[in-house]
Amino acid sequence: MPKIKIVHVCQECGHQTGKWQGKCPSCSKWNTLIEETARAAPSSPSRQRIGGAPSASFSTPKPTSTNGIAGAIPIPRISAESGKRKTTGIPDLDRVLGGGLVPGEVILISGEPGIGKSTLLLQTAKCLCESIEEKESPVLYITAEESASQIRLRGERLHALLPSLWVLAENDLDTILNTVQKSTPQAVILDSIQMIYWADLGSAPGSVGQVRECAAALTAQAKRMGHPLFLVGHVTKDGSFAGPKTLEHLVDAVLNFEGDRFYTARILRASKNRFGAVNEMAVFEMAQEGLRPVGDPSRLFLEGRRAGLAGTVVTSLWSGSRPALAEVQALVAPAPPGMAKRRVSGMDINRISMILAVLERHCGYLLADRDVFVNAADGAEAKEPGADLAIAIAIAGSVKDKPLAEDMVVVGEVGLGGELRPTNQLTARLKEAERLGFTHALVPKGSVYEGKMKLWTASTLDEALGKV
Ligand code: TYD
Ligand code: MG
Repeated sequence: MPKIKIVHVCQECGHQTGKWQGKCPSCSKWNTLIEETARAAPSSPSRQRIGGAPSASFSTPKPTSTNGIAGAIPIPRISAESGKRKTTGIPDLDRVLGGGLVPGEVILISGEPGIGKSTLLLQTAKCLCESIEEKESPVLYITAEESASQIRLRGERLHALLPSLWVLAENDLDTILNTVQKSTPQAVILDSIQMIYWADLGSAPGSVGQVRECAAALTAQAKRMGHPLFLVGHVTKDGSFAGPKTLEHLVDAVLNFEGDRFYTARILRASKNRFGAVNEMAVFEMAQEGLRPVGDPSRLFLEGRRAGLAGTVVTSLWSGSRPALAEVQALVAPAPPGMAKRRVSGMDINRISMILAVLERHCGYLLADRDVFVNAADGAEAKEPGADLAIAIAIAGSVKDKPLAEDMVVVGEVGLGGELRPTNQLTARLKEAERLGFTHALVPKGSVYEGKMKLWTASTLDEALGKV
């Protein structure tokens, strides 16, 4: 009889304590500790039994010499099978994944309800099936939220009624593990992890303990058997997701599916990827027959642009493996004494604070009694340092009410001393701007660039502001 232990788990950060407390000692959030039953041993006997024998590609050859290490393999003898990538059949998804699926890879697709996660994954399942030969094992779509007939309805819309796509409506962990073990699918899709339930735990589906333990068991199985596993995870409006931190370190890749459900554009971004670049993104459009790739994200991000407006600046960002233009917008307005607000969207608040401090300290701007709003337009994300200079110029432009030349793009990093630093990939970034009709670029002195654009250079933010 395994021993049952009661623990209190924070539903925000996954921190565990023995005693109940009002405030989580780790993340300081209030009323987030919930009583849960802890697993007695690191892996329970029943879970191991379900796992069964390891598959061929992950098996461990016995050491031949007597001075080997039991259970370990000399590196040249490890099967290269596990490094081979497989295409999902959706080129944009392959790119975000870093060039396709790695065997045994576990991918968390997170996003708000209604954004299109189930649609994306059913389309992925369809494309995977199209590349499968008849005698190969099927793709398994496990639905724990919707019924099998609801999946069929969506499948009709997406033209995904293929014989090698199998649907299992189930939310019991043991049944799922058993089914996967017996059917050795090509790939497993699980929609969603928050609805999966492991009876032994006692806590409700969706609680941190359930989400973490179920995801851990499914991940271990995927690694052992070598099939790629997609997990859907819902996030709420404020970006929280039951146990985000505990799941993020478990999986190989976290892809965030973002956008506004009232608009058609959807952006898929990698925020973690063991097998590829982070910040990589793909843009899709929600259409009648599912998601369609948007070939030209730069054009989409500049769509609503009204050139010649003070406080708006176009920059060229590096997203994983390619450039994308984005418009940075700032609005600076007088605030009641001591009540100045900073509101940031699509950018990193810490970088904005730094840029504001540099503008005050090195460029003579007084911003302490001003509200500052900054935003990356149309759902773009300007979180990389290459956007600094554009953000600084947008803020200064709003203060002085002076628009920047319409055909100018701004790329560069700002240092704490107000100095400007060149960014990587400038040539590729500016080529993208040139393609969309920009003719001038403001960049830090010392930038390496080969191309036709006319460059304005500056070595400090103050000097750059003087030039524009
Ligand atoms: P869904 O994939 O169910 O979202 P999630 O799994 O993230 O909750 O899709 C949500 C929306 O997409 C839904 O409002 C209907 C719409 N939709 C289309 O516009 N076209 C389509 O082909 C499909 C399948 C869905
Ligand atoms: Mg769904």
